Amino acid sequence: MTHDQVAAVVLAAGKGTRMKSALPKVLHPLANRPMILHLLETVRGIGVERAVVVVSPDGGQVADAVAPAATAIQHEALGTGHAVSAAREALADFEGDVLVLYGDTPLISAETLTAMLAKRQSPARPAVVVLGMRPVAANEYGRLVTAADGSLEAIVEWRDATPAQRALPLCNSGVMAIDGKALFGLLDRVGNANAKGEYYLTDIVAIARADGLSCAVVEGDEAELLGVNSRIDLAAAEAVLQNRLREQAMRDGATLTAPETVFFSADTRLGKDVTVGPNVVFGPRVVVEDGAEIRAFSHLEGAKVASGAVIGPFARLRPGADIGQDAHIGNFVEVKKATVEQGAKINHLTYIGDARIGAGANIGAGTITCNYDGFEKHFTDVGAGAFIGSNSSLVAPVKIGDGAIVGAGSTVTHDVPADGLTVVRGDEKTVEGGGRRFRARRQLATGQGARRRTGSEG
Ligand code: UD1
Ligand code: MG
Repeated sequence: MTHDQVAAVVLAAGKGTRMKSALPKVLHPLANRPMILHLLETVRGIGVERAVVVVSPDGGQVADAVAPAATAIQHEALGTGHAVSAAREALADFEGDVLVLYGDTPLISAETLTAMLAKRQSPARPAVVVLGMRPVAANEYGRLVTAADGSLEAIVEWRDATPAQRALPLCNSGVMAIDGKALFGLLDRVGNANAKGEYYLTDIVAIARADGLSCAVVEGDEAELLGVNSRIDLAAAEAVLQNRLREQAMRDGATLTAPETVFFSADTRLGKDVTVGPNVVFGPRVVVEDGAEIRAFSHLEGAKVASGAVIGPFARLRPGADIGQDAHIGNFVEVKKATVEQGAKINHLTYIGDARIGAGANIGAGTITCNYDGFEKHFTDVGAGAFIGSNSSLVAPVKIGDGAIVGAGSTVTHDVPADGLTVVRGDEKTVEGGGRRFRARRQLATGQGARRRTGSEG
């Protein structure tokens, strides 16, 4: 579907004081993406290319984040109607439909927006379509005053409403679809003689009705109209979004053993037949290909996992981890900026950073790539089929050739040629009977009796 005759105006000039934050409210992330970008993506998803974000004079950070969407500055926050007026210049040549959205109400669905635009085309041709909702706790939302035929007569703000109007169940979500040819003419006649002394966008309904234009309501689900005003709301919105992402992942063919414990980023991409165990966290930019398994308590960000690979339990993949087909990354293994080629195994207690691990290589427990000298990062290259014994330190830059073997406990600082064997250890020395003699000496010195040789004493 394309809506090249639709523009979106997103209001984001409010102060957001209840967030108590240095970060503008609409840039607070949900699923690791600024909330306003979720909204803009939904809008773009229904084919609306033209968006104007209304920001306050100090809204530079928001403007940068929403680019290439246009921004308009509302110089003083004088109300929602005044805010929409700020987009007048940006829409000077525009005659299509204008969707008005709030930057802090990011969960609205494409289906709902499409239903509103469809309503604009209905036989009565309503000049204003308002998205209504029936929240469980209607609180201080504006109330929708409807006629017997269900059409919209007016919106009354809570503070200005009579007790009878406050009892109306249908509330204003704030979202509207408006005839762009009528919009600014209607806004010109909005005054501020009301309880808040603000220019209310909501007043355009009664003005349109007085002009003989019709107005309509489309009802939406409260869950997608959740507005974020505080960190508590932010957490509630995160929960809604995480549930959507979990359901989407399962619909797309992933198995989530305990979906309620898995956390996604908005851009997480899972293939078909991926299995995700309990308590897995996907940070930004993770791609998991078909048939890979992410076991319990793994944390991934900026990583790619190829088909058939097994990650975890308790694995950490950091940015630039590129795990090849059928490779295994086991418990307490951290991989950063490293390519692990097909079938390689790194199963226990290991740090691999700034490295390549060749196909089929086996990295023993406790192996560390010593990639940082305190000033710069250096590269470790492990060839195909190489075997690194447990508890080895590979001091980068260093290259271990194809098929080479490094003995357990080695600190390797020089390159190992292909098929070579390197062991770096002190000589092992055993003194026959030395243990017995040592114990006798210590018993004498401390006056303690003979001890059993269980080794269990602390
Ligand atoms: C508004 C509606 C109310 C509705 C409620 C739903 C009006 C007059 N009232 O009230 O009917 O039930 O939303 O949440 O429209 N903003 C600006 N510039 C301004 C004022 C607001 O950009 O000068 C932005 C805010 O950042 C926010 C949005 O507009 O994103 C809504 O403003 P807010 O002050 O929260 O409106 P409410 O009083 O909640
Ligand atoms: Mg509000």
